[in-house]
Amino acid sequence: MTVALVLLLLILAALWGPVILWRQRFPELRWDWSGLDLEHPSLPAGFEFGVATSAHQVEGGATNSNWSAWEEATDARGRPRIKDGQRAGRACDHWNRFRDDIALMQHLGIKTHRLSVEWSKVEPRPGEIDKGVLDHYHEVFDAHRAAGIDVALTLHHFTHPSWFDALGGFERRENVEHFVGFSARVFDEYQSKVSLWFTINEPEIFAVLGHLIGVFPPGKSNLQRTGEVLANLMHAHTEVYETLKKRTGGAQARIGIVKNIFQIDPYRRWSPLDWWLARAGERLMNERILQYFERGVFELQLSPLVSVRYENAAGPKSLDVVGLNYYSHLTLSAEPWSKARARVRLRPSEVPTDMIFAAYPEGLYRALTSIRRLGVPIYVTENGIADAKDDRRADWIRRYLFAMARAIEEGVDVRGYFYWSLLDNFEWIEGFDQKFGLYEIDFETQTRRLREGAEVFREIVSRR
Ligand code: GCO
Repeated sequence: MTVALVLLLLILAALWGPVILWRQRFPELRWDWSGLDLEHPSLPAGFEFGVATSAHQVEGGATNSNWSAWEEATDARGRPRIKDGQRAGRACDHWNRFRDDIALMQHLGIKTHRLSVEWSKVEPRPGEIDKGVLDHYHEVFDAHRAAGIDVALTLHHFTHPSWFDALGGFERRENVEHFVGFSARVFDEYQSKVSLWFTINEPEIFAVLGHLIGVFPPGKSNLQRTGEVLANLMHAHTEVYETLKKRTGGAQARIGIVKNIFQIDPYRRWSPLDWWLARAGERLMNERILQYFERGVFELQLSPLVSVRYENAAGPKSLDVVGLNYYSHLTLSAEPWSKARARVRLRPSEVPTDMIFAAYPEGLYRALTSIRRLGVPIYVTENGIADAKDDRRADWIRRYLFAMARAIEEGVDVRGYFYWSLLDNFEWIEGFDQKFGLYEIDFETQTRRLREGAEVFREIVSRR
């Protein structure tokens, strides 16, 4: 009897002991929003407002990349990879309409456009650079400069050439040199026209959606491989950083990576299962990557079978700035009996977005206060809402800006905020159904219209 009782107590302590500690250590921050001044976020002088886009999502005409191939592919059961079989196609036709789109940016009054160059267009075959494409991007950057808009450039935003994929993409460490070569070429070409450089967009999303969940190309599902891809991306970032720093203009250039933070919170804060899942998710998606930039060690030990270690003393010195993409947290509920094993569940009080997550402005404050430990200036390189009805966008903008301003007041060094996105665009596996744009697009006619909910952004920007 006593033995059984002791055993029971031990089991309870083993299960709920950590829960008690975690609940203390990782509170799910919530503010009382009533009575707060949301119209006038107090931001430092020189603070930069901008908008963000990425090449594949807006340009159109990509036919030679991992994503253009993915849009043609089907899964084992013959179903399309993208919702309703959509394809990026000509997307927002930004390739041809970039001058009009720059005029839209001017109308907003923003200072910076974060965009990316399409590697598969610049280097259609290994080592072969398309001069016409280089000239095109010259025109694009010159037009920005003529309009008084700075360019923040991402080198890898989820897409790369098909030939790079055929070599095994970022699964193989030796392929990194191709990305380094491409980056150096682009840097030499445009260093005098670009004010901020970002190497890789959201390494954790790229690795996990492509190599673990399998909904992004290359559509694999392997935890060990996912860890290796992440390690290779840390390597790739560091190599690109070091290479660019040595080139003409490198010393003055500000170079960083773009880290996405979706905090993984347990849906049931009393449940050991939900906590265990949330902690594992946090390690994989956030903590180990931040740790690499702090200590130069990327280490994943997710199960006895999954272990990855990458060490590079140059890691902590490889950031002049850091980009933070922030949307929300994911409140996960473990459901071991279901096929997916877990799902995201919204709290009843939360305002949903058209994506699977809710609005959680307090999370931007949390993310900023956690990423400050990297000790470099931060840019919010993406934040925005998918809101087809446009009935939550204005409130989203006010609250997230308020949360950011609060972090800044507490001493977090945030230099800019780039709204995702300027335009409705091709939202990866969701196709064109998710409406993130400040400007709504009618994709039949390609006409753009400023959404009412975006006016508040324009007002806050113009007041400065
Ligand atoms: C990402 C990307 C963007 C998305 C945006 C909205 O986070 O997946 O950087 O390309 O379109 O975040 O989901």
